[in-house]
Amino acid sequence: MIFRDAIAADIPILADFARRTYAAAFGDSMAASDLEHHLTHRLGDTYFAEALRRDVFPLALEGGLAGYAQFGRADVEGAQPGDMQLRRLYVDPGRQNSGIGSILMRRALARMAEAPRIFLDVWDRNTGAVKLYERFGFRAVGTVPFVTPSGEVTGHDLLMMLIPSEAALRPPQ
Ligand SMILES: CC(C)(COP(=O)(O)OP(=O)(O)OC[C@H]1O[C@@H](n2cnc3c(N)ncnc32)[C@H](O)[C@@H]1OP(=O)(O)O)[C@@H](O)C(=O)NCCC(=O)NCCS
Repeated sequence: MIFRDAIAADIPILADFARRTYAAAFGDSMAASDLEHHLTHRLGDTYFAEALRRDVFPLALEGGLAGYAQFGRADVEGAQPGDMQLRRLYVDPGRQNSGIGSILMRRALARMAEAPRIFLDVWDRNTGAVKLYERFGFRAVGTVPFVTPSGEVTGHDLLMMLIPSEAALRPPQ
């Protein structure tokens, strides 16, 4: 498996992969119109072109894209200069639970090791992902309302935080 960061030429493939993996993971849990809005506005080629200017997208490649992460400067409420945020972590549905997500996570965290704090938010019902994040030392520190494009609050994301200087950045055993 090859690990490298996305470049501009990867955007069409990355955006397509991001839309497919998001729809596979969460498509059944939201209204079709909200899903469509998210796929178009938060996971469109235009979004990725813009996000690539400020965020890093580590890719896992093996016969195509197998997974990706996204991290950058933290934009959560209360973030301080230097704080970082893991914004996304997705693995191809056919290749989940084979360690790819953990490798991407470990590599991303290693590159944020100098940050005072690392944040992420995760749907509170996404117990698999929460478990993975807890294994890496993230702890819930609050909640963030999940607002649909129509303005409806349909649930809460957990806000999780890791202090790298206090955590051993080891992969799960
Ligand atoms: C979460 C995700 C990135 C993890 O990547 P992965 O390659 O599948 O994970 P790994 O194989 O490295 O690690 C497996 C661990 O992840 C956790 N996990 C991930 N998905 C899980 C699920 N559906 N159910 C239970 N545990 C799950 C568990 O801790 C599991 O360890 P275990 O098998 O010992 O219980 C991947 O499953 C994924 O893309 N899920 C859909 C998208 C998503 O939820 N992304 C996170 C959004 S915040």
